[in-house]
Amino acid sequence: MPHETGFDFQHYNPVRTIFGPGSLEHLPELVGKRRVLLVTFKSARETGLLARLKGLLGDRLVDLIDEVPSRPELKDVQQAHERIWRERRVELVVAVGGGSVIDYAKALLCLPESGHFFDLITRSTPVVKRLRLIAVPTTAGSGSEVTPFSVLWDTRDANPTKFTLHQSRIYAETALIDPELTLSLPKLVMRNSGLDALSHALEAIWNVNATPMTDLLAVEAARTLIAKLPIAWHFQGHIKARIMIARAAWQAGLCLAQTRTALAHALSYPLTIKQGTPHGLASSWSLPWVWQQAQNNSAERDAVLSRIYGPSETDPVARLCELLYKLEVPTEPQAWGLSESERARIVLEHMHNPKGHNFIAKGLRL
Ligand SMILES: [Fe+2]
Repeated sequence: MPHETGFDFQHYNPVRTIFGPGSLEHLPELVGKRRVLLVTFKSARETGLLARLKGLLGDRLVDLIDEVPSRPELKDVQQAHERIWRERRVELVVAVGGGSVIDYAKALLCLPESGHFFDLITRSTPVVKRLRLIAVPTTAGSGSEVTPFSVLWDTRDANPTKFTLHQSRIYAETALIDPELTLSLPKLVMRNSGLDALSHALEAIWNVNATPMTDLLAVEAARTLIAKLPIAWHFQGHIKARIMIARAAWQAGLCLAQTRTALAHALSYPLTIKQGTPHGLASSWSLPWVWQQAQNNSAERDAVLSRIYGPSETDPVARLCELLYKLEVPTEPQAWGLSESERARIVLEHMHNPKGHNFIAKGLRL
């Protein structure tokens, strides 16, 4: 595996990050004189966030998409992409919302040589023009503000699928992370997005693409999330916990951008697609089981994992189960409508796709 050589890895992330409570107020200086398309979510209007953003952007705001759903569909993105590139009024996209909003905005940024949106996503066609992006997450979890991925839903046939656009030119120019924006999140959304971040951190460790940098970031992110998520779960307005969770989600996003995801995310897809389970929940309930599968495959990976709970902890998997129990997330497959054999079948199916290839174990202990 590349990480075992000690030098055979690459690490690249071009996103400038500005982090801190109240940092949204820096938006006007980051925008400068550029004409802006604001992309945000429907309830931003009801919560007053949209009015605040309009005030900050002033006359630089020339276009608005304010109803991005939690599952952005390719056909809707295609329509928006065609309109924006036909009108050519904007120079900068500002995306304010959770991972879905930022992913939607990223899919608008690039104009392929042919001009056709679907060429951008179905074949490697040259990009001839690109808009810049300022990403402002309002959840702490997806890490989309620092990754080159955009996850969209393809509903063109009867069985919807998730489609991931992976393109280095959709990295944001700036990630503007203001943890105060997460205070208005419903409790369940805070938990689910935080667990998505924990999944990104752990999946970066049991991953063949891990680097010395992702190991550092992932261990710290996982330790922070394990300590702070129960506090934020019980004390809604605990700003110190929210700040630490937002920081950890950013660290986990930086890992995700390098390593991509692995087996826990592979297991999440059928639940999200067939049952509508929120992504963060679907990608975290299986973490203790995947941790068990990851153990004893690589002494180096085991050593990194042991740094999360400390080398004196003899049963980190049980501790992780305790955390999920505290957060009211069941870890048995039956609770998610799966038998043990169905879980094994799904995992074995994914062992030969990219997520399976990222996982350090090449077989399962069933
Ligand atoms: Fe995720």
